[in-house]
Amino acid sequence: MNDGRDRLRIAVQKSGRLSEASLDLLRRAGLAFRASRDKLFLYGENLPVDVLLVRDDDIPGLLVEGSCELGIVGRNVLDEQRLAGGAAPAPAALIDLGFGHCRLALAVPDGGPIGTIADLAGLRIATSYPALLADWLRAQRIDAEVVLLNGSVEIAPRLGKAHAICDLVSSGATLAANQLHELATVMHSEAVLVASPRPRGAAASQLVERLGARIAGALSGAGARLLMLQAPRTALPAITRLLPSREAPSVLGLDGRPDDVAMQALCNASLDWQHLEELKRLGARGVMVLNVERMLA
Ligand code: PRP
Ligand code: ZN
Repeated sequence: MNDGRDRLRIAVQKSGRLSEASLDLLRRAGLAFRASRDKLFLYGENLPVDVLLVRDDDIPGLLVEGSCELGIVGRNVLDEQRLAGGAAPAPAALIDLGFGHCRLALAVPDGGPIGTIADLAGLRIATSYPALLADWLRAQRIDAEVVLLNGSVEIAPRLGKAHAICDLVSSGATLAANQLHELATVMHSEAVLVASPRPRGAAASQLVERLGARIAGALSGAGARLLMLQAPRTALPAITRLLPSREAPSVLGLDGRPDDVAMQALCNASLDWQHLEELKRLGARGVMVLNVERMLA
């Protein structure tokens, strides 16, 4: 890979909102790991792919310097790095992963004097995302002071360090616990799979591509159902209209039964008992629903 390594490295958040879902996704993509004693490194047992457990904010840097080929990180962390880095090569987002949804938001103390974003003019705002915040303030034409804090941003107003904060909000529990409320959303974010901008050798590129395809497959398989049934040929249009289907169903003829067909359809997770009962009313028989574990497009 880079610097003479012969194993691929994926950087994942060590402990935080994305950690568990990230490792779960890698397992669903077929990777099996053994933890090192210090728990900072997971050794890939069935592919030459290891996981590095690090602070999420360090992940873009590790990708840029080529210490890791892939990473899973919030889009907010990636965008912050790209804005702050200027013209330097930045990691590229490969796939939206559909978990870790949150927003970067401006929040102010409950019952305080700040009622609208215009009131922020001339005030201090604490954040771990100075580039994203500065960019947003510029776009809103608000002249405020950005104060960089690398942790516990939510207590800055109480400590008198800032009048407002700009931080990630997911459930809103952290804001509520600190008597803060949201004033505006700066950006929406979710976990993304990112790749190092460094050129890689052929073997590494191939492995990156293979893992990307597997991860995409694990994601699109999630929640998918395969519906199988037999029905009179005449009932097909009504049946097809009813299905929460992802694509046109496959229809097969049945030996010696010219009026009947067998049908297979890939449906989404909303396929429920009510659908099955409806299908039966339309003449379907032998209705079967299977969970789809993986898909390779
Ligand atoms: C974010 C943010 C808050 C918390 C908000 O931290 O800094 O502490 O999540 O979540 P809530 O609205 O559900 O209470 P994150 O997990 O990203 O960790 P980090 O900031 O230390 O990287
Ligand atoms: Zn972080």
